[in-house]
Amino acid sequence: RIIPVILSGGAGTRLWPMSRPENPKQLLALTAEETMLQLTVQRTRDSRLFEAPLIVANLAHADAIEAQLSKIGIVPESLILEPLGRNTAPAIALAALASNDRSAPLLVMPSDHVIADVGAFHAAIDTALPLVNDGWLVTFGIAPDKPETGYGYIRIGDAIAAGVHRVERFVEKPDRRSAELMLAEGGHAWNGGIFLFRADTYLAALAEHAPDMLAAAQRAMAEGERTARRIQPHAGHFAESPSDSIDYAVMEKAERVAVVPVAMGWSDLGSWDALHAISTCDGEGNVCEGNAIVIDSHNCLIRSDGPRVAIVGVDDLIVVASGNDILILPRGRSQDVKKVTQELEERA
Ligand code: GDD
Ligand code: MG
Repeated sequence: RIIPVILSGGAGTRLWPMSRPENPKQLLALTAEETMLQLTVQRTRDSRLFEAPLIVANLAHADAIEAQLSKIGIVPESLILEPLGRNTAPAIALAALASNDRSAPLLVMPSDHVIADVGAFHAAIDTALPLVNDGWLVTFGIAPDKPETGYGYIRIGDAIAAGVHRVERFVEKPDRRSAELMLAEGGHAWNGGIFLFRADTYLAALAEHAPDMLAAAQRAMAEGERTARRIQPHAGHFAESPSDSIDYAVMEKAERVAVVPVAMGWSDLGSWDALHAISTCDGEGNVCEGNAIVIDSHNCLIRSDGPRVAIVGVDDLIVVASGNDILILPRGRSQDVKKVTQELEERA
C-alpha cells in the first residue's frame, strides 16, 4: 500500500489576512466546510490503497493539525514536526527516512490544492505505480492554460508505458517569456506538485544530487525525539540542511523522472484570484463569504470572518477582512499580496 506524505509547512502568504503564520492557508476552510488539510487527507482515506498518512509540518502547528485530523476521524501514522522550515526537499527526506518500509511508494502531496475529480487522481496513481516500483520518480502533469510563472513546467517526452511519459526537461518557475514560449510550443505540462516514488528511490536521488541535505536529515532523525505519534527531528542538525525545494534539488537534476498527465480538476489555491476563479458565483460574478452586503457590484470577492463588509457600485474588487486587518485590491493583483506580508515582516 501507498504511504501518503502530506506537506503542511507552507506559509500561504498570498492569502493574507486570512492566512497567517500561526494559522496558514492549509489549516483554513477556503473552499468547503473542511480545511484544505482535511480535504487533502480525505483523498487518501481508502485503506485498500493507502496506509495512514505521514504529515510533515511546522512544530508550531502540531496541536491544530491533530485536532483537525481527529475531527474527521483520521489517526496519522506520525506527525513529523519540523523545528524550522527548510523547504520541501528536506521535509520529504524526513518522511522517507521515517517510513518503516523503504520500498513502499510515497505519495507526496501539498496540503493546499484543490482536486475536484478524486477518481481521476486515483486512476493516475494506478497508472504510475508500475514505474514507481521500477525506481522512477513520478510526477503528475496538468494541462497548462496560461503562462503562469509560479509553477514548474515539464516538457513531455516519449511514452514509457501507457499514460506515462519520460520527463524530457523540468523547468521550475520559468520567467514570463519562457513560460509563454513553452505554452506556444505545446507539449508541456505544469508540474502538479504531487509526487509518487519509493522512499529508497528518493533517498538515492538525494545521495546523488543533494548529499549534504540527506546527511543533515539523517542526523536530525537519528538524534530526534519520538513519542507515540510525533517525531521531532533534532533542530540543530536539521538547521544544517540546505533549504531547497524538491523541484530544484531533485526533479530538475534526476535521471529517471516520469510524468503522468492527468485531468483531475486541479487547482493550486495560491491566491485570492485563484479562489475567485474556482468558486461558484452569484448571478453577478460575486463570491461572498461572511458578513457582506453587495449593491450594484460585479465580479467581486468578499470574505470576512467578522466585520460587516459593504460594497456599492464597484467591479472586479477583492475585499478580505480578518481580525484587525482589511485587504483591498483589484482582481488580477493578488500575486502582490506577498508584498504586504513582506512589509509586515519588516515592520515586526
Ligand atoms: N513540511 C513542509 N516544510 N512543507 C512545506 C515546506 C516546508 O519547509 N515548504 C513548503 N511546504 C509545503 C506547502 O505547504 C505546500 O503544501 C507544498 O509544500 C508545496 O510548497 P509551495 O511552497 O506551495 O510550492 P510552490 O507552489 O511554490 O511550487 C510547487 O508546487 C507547484 C504547484 O502548486 C512546485 O512543485 C511547482 O513545480 C509546482 O508547479
Ligand atoms: Mg504552492
